[in-house]
Order: sequence, then C-alpha cells, then structure tokens
Amino acid sequence: MTYSGPAFSVSALGDGIVELKFDLAGESVNKLNQTALRDFSAATQAIAKDPSVKGVVVTSGKGVFIVGADITEFGGLFAAGEEAIAKNVIEVNRLLSAFEDLPVPTVVAINGVCLGGGLELALAGDYRVMSTAASVGFPEVKLGIFPGFGGSVRMPRVIGIDNAIEWICTGNDKKADAALKDGAVDAVVTPEALRDAAIAMVKQAVAGRLDWKAKRAEKLAPVKLNKMELTMAFTSAMGVVAAQAGPNYPAPVLAIKSMQESVVLPRDAALEVEGKYFAKAAVTPQANALIGVFMADQVVKKASGAWEKKAAKQIGQAAVLGAGIMGGGIAYQAALKGTPIVMKDIKEEQLALGMGEAGKLLSKQLERGKMTPAKMSETLGRIRPTLNYGDFGGVDIIIEAVVENPKVKKAVLAEVEGLVKDDTIIASNTSTISISYLAESLKRPQNFVGMHFFNPVHMMPLVEVIRGKQSSDEAVAATVKLASKMGKTPIVVNDCPGFMVNRVLFPYFAGFHFLLRDGADFQAVDKAMEKFGWPMGPAYLMDVVGMDTAVHAAGVMAEGFPDRMKYDFKGATDVLVENQRLGQKNGKGYYVYAPDKKGKPKKTVDPTTYDLIASVCGPRREFAPEEIVARCMVPMVNEVARCLEEKIVASPYEADMALLYGIGFPPFRGGACRYVDQAGAANFVALAQKYAGLGKLYEPPKLLLDMAAAGKKFFA
Ligand SMILES: NC(=O)c1ccc[n+]([C@@H]2O[C@H](COP(=O)([O-])OP(=O)(O)OC[C@H]3O[C@@H](n4cnc5c(N)ncnc54)[C@H](O)[C@@H]3O)[C@@H](O)[C@H]2O)c1
Repeated sequence: MTYSGPAFSVSALGDGIVELKFDLAGESVNKLNQTALRDFSAATQAIAKDPSVKGVVVTSGKGVFIVGADITEFGGLFAAGEEAIAKNVIEVNRLLSAFEDLPVPTVVAINGVCLGGGLELALAGDYRVMSTAASVGFPEVKLGIFPGFGGSVRMPRVIGIDNAIEWICTGNDKKADAALKDGAVDAVVTPEALRDAAIAMVKQAVAGRLDWKAKRAEKLAPVKLNKMELTMAFTSAMGVVAAQAGPNYPAPVLAIKSMQESVVLPRDAALEVEGKYFAKAAVTPQANALIGVFMADQVVKKASGAWEKKAAKQIGQAAVLGAGIMGGGIAYQAALKGTPIVMKDIKEEQLALGMGEAGKLLSKQLERGKMTPAKMSETLGRIRPTLNYGDFGGVDIIIEAVVENPKVKKAVLAEVEGLVKDDTIIASNTSTISISYLAESLKRPQNFVGMHFFNPVHMMPLVEVIRGKQSSDEAVAATVKLASKMGKTPIVVNDCPGFMVNRVLFPYFAGFHFLLRDGADFQAVDKAMEKFGWPMGPAYLMDVVGMDTAVHAAGVMAEGFPDRMKYDFKGATDVLVENQRLGQKNGKGYYVYAPDKKGKPKKTVDPTTYDLIASVCGPRREFAPEEIVARCMVPMVNEVARCLEEKIVASPYEADMALLYGIGFPPFRGGACRYVDQAGAANFVALAQKYAGLGKLYEPPKLLLDMAAAGKKFFA
C-alpha cells in the first residue's frame, strides 16, 4: 500500500511491513500542527483499512523526530475556554488512540529531538527504538501546561508513576541512556543502525517473538498498584513538587492531580481526565504568560539572526578596557566561548583580580565536571591581561568597561580610538550614559555602539546592543554577532539615557523610594514584590547593585528625564551612601551581609538601618501588598510604554524579553506588556491614574491611554 499526504507518507517495505514517515512539507522540522494531526489520522486510517499490513515502522524524514505540538497554534486554541480545550485534546487523543489500536505491531524510530507531543505520539506506538543522537522529554510545564495528548496517561503506565512524575513535572530532556534506563524506550542504537533496528524489531513482533499484544494491553489498563501504594506515591510526590514549583507555577501540581485521578482508569476514561486537567492548566494566566515568553523569545532570536546575517566583519580578536566586576566578567565570557580577548586596566591589582575571578568561575565548572583541565587552561590562555595598549593595533572590537564617569569614558574612548584600525568597533558597556553623547569624543562615531552586559555577566542572558545616532549597521551587526557568540541574547535598542532596561528599572526604584518616604517599611516592600514574583525585592536588589552605583545612575537618569526622574526629596538610599553603606560590596546596605558556609553573602536584618533612614522616611504605616505592587510596577510599566512610543525598543516582545533576561522580571507574568494585557489596558490605566498624584512617573502615557480607549492589547 502507499499513502501520501502533506505530512505523512506510507510506503511498503516488503513482508507486510510499512513505513509511516513524518516529513512535514514546507517546514524545517516536524511538528504536530493541525495539518499534521489531520494527516496522521488519514494515514492511520489508510493503514487500518489494508489487511495486508502486518507491522508499522514510524520514521522521520527530518533531522529531528518531532519537536512537539505547534506552539503558535496554542493562543487561538486556548482562547476558546476550558470546555473547548478539553474537547480539542480529547479529539487529538482519538487520533493517537486509533494509531495505538491498529491491529498490527508498531515500532517508532526516534532519530532526533522528540519532545512534548512528539513523545506522546511515540508512546502511542508499541515499541520505541532511539538513536544515541536523539533526546526525548516533556517540556510542557515550562509553558505552564502539561502533556495533554495522552502523555500523562501513557507515561506512568510505561515507566511507572515515580518516573513519570519526574519526567513530566521537571520538564527536563533525557538522553538515550537515561530514557532506556527508565524504560521510556526499548532499545538504543547508533544513528546509522536506527532504521534497520526498528524494522528488525517490528519483524520480531510480527513473527511472535515479541509479545506486543501483552505490552500494549499494559498501556490500555489501569496501573497495577493497590490503593495504599498509589496514595503513597502521589502524596509524597505532591509535597515535593508543590514546594519546588511554588504557588506561581500551577502546572506540575495539576499534572500530578490528573495522573492521580487517571492511573486507576482504563485508557479512554483516563484520557478524559487528562483533558479536563490539561484545560485547567491551559487557561491559567501563567500558561498564557509562559507561552507568550516562548513566542517572544522566537521574535528576539529572529531579530538578532537578521542582524547577524548583515555582519560582514569577522571578530577574531577582542579587547576589554577595565578589569573590574564587568570587564573581568566580559573577558571570562568571551574566552569561554572561544573569542581571544586582551584585558587592559590601569592597575596591576585589578588585572590580578579579573584573572582570579575568571579562574574561580572555571574551577567551579571543573568541580562540577562541566569542564576539563585542558579546556580550562585553553580558556584562561585566551585572556591576555595587560597594562598597556601595545597589542591594540590588531583588535577587531573593543568593549569599554571603565568606571561609569562620562569624562573618564570620553577620554578613554578618544585615546583608544587613536590606537586602533580604522574599522575597529568600539562598544561601551556603560549602564546609563547616552551612546550618542559619548560618541561626541570620537572621530569615527559610526564605529561606536553600546554593548550593555548585566551583572554577573556569566549568569545574565541579556546584552542590550545600543544604536547611537551615528552608529552604523555594520557596527550594530558585528556587536550582535559577538554577543550571540558569547552565548548571550542580544536585543538591539535605540539610544537614550539608561537605554531600555535601566530606563524602566529606575522608575521602579523611584516607586520604592516614594513608598519609604510615605512611611512604608522596606522589608514589607521587599516581601510584597518578592511575592509578586521578583527574585529579590527593591531594597535587596539595590544592595546587590551597589548603593553608590544606584545613586550615581539615578543622577544620570534624572538629568536625562528631569520631568519625571528628578525628585525634590532625599531618598533612603542617598542616606545609606552618605553613611558608607554601599550594599553587598561592603557588607552593609539596607540589610547586612556575612559570608555563609559556601562563602556566599547571607542577608540579615539590621535594626540600625531604620534609625539611619528615619530622617527621610515618613511616620511608619502599613501598606496593603497590592498598593505596594501598584506603586512600584506602575512607574516601570509606564516607562516601558514610553520606550515603545519613542521606538527605543522595537516591539513589546523585545521589551518583555529584555526585562526577563536583564532584570529577572517574573517569567510567569511574561513581562511588562503581558502584565498590562492580563490586567486589561483600561484597568491598568485606572490603577495608574489612581496614583497620578504621586508624580509624572505615574501618569499613563498616550500609548496606554489609546489602548485603554480602544480595548486593545499588546499581543493579539
Ligand atoms: N557593576 C554592574 O552591576 C554593572 C552592570 C552593567 C554595566 N556596568 C558598567 O560597566 C562599567 C564598569 O563597571 P564595573 O562595575 O566593572 O566597575 P569597576 O569599578 O569594578 O571596574 C572599573 C575598572 O576600570 C578600570 N579603569 C579605570 N580607568 C581605566 C582606564 N583608563 N583604562 C583601563 N581601565 C580603567 C579600573 O581600574 C577598574 O578596574 C561601568 O560603565 C558600569 O556602569 C556595571
């Protein structure tokens, strides 16, 4: 028999064996979109109708097996509401069950990435043979959902409840050996041997040497554990999973509830249960946000990819000016990812510190088995510390990371420009100072851009690439390419003080200072904002950033946006700086810090902080957590909208990802624009207007007013 559709084809291999091949037309990868699912059903029916078929081998015509369901279709499907979602997945499950119920044995040959819906399809087969080059897993919880195409029903029956919970609730990918160990696949072979091994296996089943009927029956029946064993398995897992996921990530808990209810039922009834719980997860705001993050990440990658294509210049040799916190981190990251880098400072001890820090980071990786001694020395060998400009003639890009002082920066930039090739790109890691302003000191401003890394460089994924008024496309493109090569996510933004991320972060800090001025307890503010989802509250964050750095940057922002970022009162942070409380860097800020057993700074509360800042804080009063959240978030979100109005950032997707990757905006909220969408623009505007008396930072900008009036959203 033969069958050919837009995604699947069936061809006869002889002896009654057919190959059901997935090769989605017009796509580089296989995914289970509506077209593929319909075609899968048609192909299955064609096989079912042909009595000459004795066995089926499922293969992929692409480098991957199946990357999963088509996430771009989720928005439309999930907007239809809980009942419709449950109906939809149960419908899909009918297709997969029809394949599972074919009257002949089926073997799935997993050649490459096989995730989510892909693994669910594979589980509907009787046997799975996996290539050593493939990986399998259920990443759904990362999108706020869990496997809904039968994965949570079949997996516990195939690999046991404990394993299934681990696979589904962590969302981790598994390599072939781990998948085989847990029993998710039946054999592992080399990529070259895969197809033949799958065919041989189905022939064995056809010949009756493998009892495929008994194996299949196990998937159709409830799991064979008694009530007591089931209670124990689920109760203990629920405790651990709920604690790990936390209240903001409901999907893993819903997955466990679904499995607990479904494992005692035969397949079809179990699938109904899965559909019901899947729909509950799919309509949560967290799923909406996390799916939004996935889509936004694609937009960001596409944008940086487009820049990279424009980059004609190869970056062979880099240099960094300054071996401080940032310069050291930049040198380490460049070297780690294969770019040789000269690290120049004016102080010998800073160079030693920078090299020491790189050595420490590499040693940690060595300890964790993620690095070999040879790779470590190779990486360190790529960093060349120096006190002079001797080697700068051959450098392709220079990243300036000296102190945040416009005069010093201008002088250093002009000096270095005189020593390099005409086409050397010069990038500044300034956190706030306008790139166009710094370019005034240069003869070749077209070669100059901003390259804003975040602290700690090795951990934070974002690099803002800032395009000044005169920056050339070539300079932007080469910088984007280098940032990607360094393993970072570059987002190109236009120039203004603070660029995108710090421009919106400082209004948030302002909200914090207003609260303290009006009598709020800084600990209560931290608590409310951490409950909102930030990794740390604003007082704690200020301690980490460094008080002096924060105050200095706030000054630059005030100069840049005096109408709303210049304040007529002294803030608590100013007072702390005056008292030499600079945050974690000297062990004292809002909180005090002492190294814990692992040498990490441990935060404790210091009652004297309250005495110190009392003179600039109003009489203590309680604020409801919602008010604290509103007073910190409204200025930030308003400023994001202004950045969009002024085209500092190109799209709400990039704005949201910049906040997630740059300052840890809670992913389950999706970003500032998603936050407005979920609240409703009109509700957000009403909230902002409620606090408009606090100052211009709270007045909603035109973009938001227009969206509120028209009932519009940032994301369709
Ligand atoms: N620390 C952060 O969290 C952070 C985050 C993002 C961006 N930045 C920016 O990165 C830059 C550096 O910040 P940092 O925190 O690493 O500062 P730092 O004080 O730790 O390091 C600055 C280094 O520059 C060196 N230096 C000064 N003049 C120099 C010169 N003429 N040539 C070579 N080296 C010189 C100093 O000796 C010092 O080692 C600043 O512009 C800052 O705003 C900092």
